[in-house]
Amino acid sequence: MLALMVRTVFLLILLSLAEAGAQTAVPSPTAAALPSASPSAAPASPAPADTAAPLPPIASVAAATPALPKVTYSEVHVDGPYIAMTFDDGPSGPNTPRLLDLAAKKHIKLTFFLIGENAARYPQLVQRELAEGHQVGNHTYTHPVLSKMTDDGIRAEIQKTQDAIINAAGYKPVIMRPPYGALTARQRLWVANEFGFKIILWDVDPNDWKNPGPAVVAQRILAAVRPGSIILSHDIHSGTVDAMPQVFDTLLARGYKFVTVSELLAMDKGPAAKAKKAVAGNAATPAATP
Ligand code: NI
Repeated sequence: MLALMVRTVFLLILLSLAEAGAQTAVPSPTAAALPSASPSAAPASPAPADTAAPLPPIASVAAATPALPKVTYSEVHVDGPYIAMTFDDGPSGPNTPRLLDLAAKKHIKLTFFLIGENAARYPQLVQRELAEGHQVGNHTYTHPVLSKMTDDGIRAEIQKTQDAIINAAGYKPVIMRPPYGALTARQRLWVANEFGFKIILWDVDPNDWKNPGPAVVAQRILAAVRPGSIILSHDIHSGTVDAMPQVFDTLLARGYKFVTVSELLAMDKGPAAKAKKAVAGNAATPAATP
């Protein structure tokens, strides 16, 4: 416990130094990107789903502060055509079973960021997600804007959700996604450290919560996916699930392989592999360019 506290304090000092350095440094693209790199620009009032604007590359934070451990991912630098499709806010009684049927038929693995309230309501769906090889992560208990909350409030939202998932299926999540992507750099560090989480954001967002229709959801995802992408969607919306046959079939035809978020993270080659990734990705998925 003492070691954990010492480590946490050390990390916070490092973070403070890094932020102080960024504020006083001669302006450079990297330093300038640091203050805005936090996705804590949450909407003024809670929106119905993860509506945060597309995030600036988190890699710029890592580049500016190499001493910090990497705890946040919005994409992963991989050599092959691997992607993680993630579905937030469920489980949903009417929609999640349809999605699970489809994934089973196509033999693909998905990741579900669960709302604790829904996990408590549909324990059998949490069990099914895990039994069929998918990953589940923590998406808080009531979907609040965490960046505006106290540390104790954040801790309670997360712990209650861990407990709900453990109670439902005997599994303790190791990844979490803050609603709206809203968690400050300081919060991300202690949350990751205290709960042993990786914080998972996304690089593809079809804005499916606005219910634009299955064809539009599919088109937006298919236009934006690259090797290493983490795709955000919501299995609480029937139109999103309706879009998935086309999304899955098209991405499979392009040669993409669906893995869970933790499987994708295990393939991380680090920021240095970024340039190489584009080449490898193009070679691996020749049909990815329309
Ligand atoms: Ni959400």
